[in-house]
Amino acid sequence: MNSSPWWKEATIYQIYPRSFFDSNGDGEGDLPGVTSKLDYVKSLGVDAIWLSPFYTSPNKDGGYDVANPRDVDPRFGNLEDARELITQAHKRDLRVIADIVPNHFSDQHEWFQAALKSKRGSKERERFHFYDANEDGTPPNNWISLFGGPSWTQVEDGQFYLHLFDSSQPDLNWENPEVNADFEKTLRFWIDLGVDGFRIDVAHGLIKEDVLTNHPDPQGLSNALRLDVAMDSEERNALLLTVPYFDRQGVHEIYRKWRKLFDSYTGREIMAVAEAWVHPPVNATRYVRADELHQVFNFDLLTAEFDSDVLFDVVERSISLNATVNALPTWALSNHDSPRVASRIGDEQARALALFVFGLPGSTYVFAGQELGLPDGQLQDSDRQDPTFFRTNGAIKGRDGARVPLPWSGDTTPFGFSTAKPWLPISQGWKDLTIENELADPKSSLHLYKNALELRKEFLVGAGGITWLESSQHGHKSDSLLSYSRGSITVVMNLSDSAAECDAAGKLIIVSGGTVDARDGKKVIPARSTAWFLT
Ligand code: NOJ
Repeated sequence: MNSSPWWKEATIYQIYPRSFFDSNGDGEGDLPGVTSKLDYVKSLGVDAIWLSPFYTSPNKDGGYDVANPRDVDPRFGNLEDARELITQAHKRDLRVIADIVPNHFSDQHEWFQAALKSKRGSKERERFHFYDANEDGTPPNNWISLFGGPSWTQVEDGQFYLHLFDSSQPDLNWENPEVNADFEKTLRFWIDLGVDGFRIDVAHGLIKEDVLTNHPDPQGLSNALRLDVAMDSEERNALLLTVPYFDRQGVHEIYRKWRKLFDSYTGREIMAVAEAWVHPPVNATRYVRADELHQVFNFDLLTAEFDSDVLFDVVERSISLNATVNALPTWALSNHDSPRVASRIGDEQARALALFVFGLPGSTYVFAGQELGLPDGQLQDSDRQDPTFFRTNGAIKGRDGARVPLPWSGDTTPFGFSTAKPWLPISQGWKDLTIENELADPKSSLHLYKNALELRKEFLVGAGGITWLESSQHGHKSDSLLSYSRGSITVVMNLSDSAAECDAAGKLIIVSGGTVDARDGKKVIPARSTAWFLT
């Protein structure tokens, strides 16, 4: 079954180009490296790739510090390589989603360099958020950067500029028409080069309000925004309602304009997905109203415990909230900013959850390496590159663990990723997790993903909504089973540490781990495992 348009229930494979495959032996992945592995990507059964940024960048924040959004950084290749990647992807019927970064530029962007050389109040400074210091010399307000430390940096003439992230990432002023025009140019540039969609970085952050007002609890707010800081959920939720620089109404005007631009490419079905961490969850649906963007990331599964009540809530809420704007949810278990799911909840649990999620309506994102069941890389502090690590003086380790390059083949690190020393070390312990090894093992995580994605396409894409069959929250007693039916498939996940019986009818077509037995007319689902039955 096909769903139309293409993105509606697509499986999208996220590639972090620096960590995917190194074609030129410099220890870093690159665009020709991605192109050379597109047959592998296609063989997974995914519909599209999302490429994390590959634009000209000093790479202070993994390329999310863009110095020229309309060119390719030499570490990744050149524009011709980008064009070839897109052409080769399209030949294989794979769509390409580019990652654009509209909230900030790199301080090496020519605009920012010009702003530094220009006077306060100049049109060059108006493109960013430059303000005078307070009378006592302190920054214009007390906001804390999302990477730690102040979100203001002072320049030579005493003014400060705002950066919600690293000091090398000055925030753009979206009240300025030049900024709007420049981004439209960037969108058109990549659409004209052939991309099929965009992942919009910090989509909720473009418009700032009350820039000259202090926040009553900047440290609390900063902690609330960091998922890796333990906090009482009520306190977190209350603080999240007070963010002065996220989810302002003005962002929606921008996306309405962008939607018109996308739709003007008739026949292309250009899509965009918003990275919008907003609170309360209902606010996320505003980004996918009919005249705005096509998808918004649902990040709940990046942090959800492997617990039936928690997962029931996440799934139910996401489906029902999106339904209010006639949209379908998105699902992601891992990405380049979060611990890998196998490390976070366990290997078997990660497989079970993936199979559970692949049955759900909407679009599924798979972070490269997730299909192998990769854990986070174990790194020494001296290996780390994430600005979060440096801006918190090492208190927060950062996101490098999820970004360790992929192990492709062979018995010795770096497992065919590169002929040189990889930019982050790949543990020798990943020997059994190479693509080569997993392809040879029918019980591997890789085969589970391939088989599941094939079955998903055959039986589930376009199959409508779900009906819950088991969950302690909707009247059933089991606190270890979660089960739903959708189309001709029944999906049963056993979250407990022992086998559990269920009434699911139909023929077993896939199981994430272990063996499903039959007992007294019931099916016995192995511990920490998910099974699909076809009726
Ligand atoms: C979200 C991106 O996913 C992350 O990697 C980046 O550091 C921030 N946005 C800032 O661009």
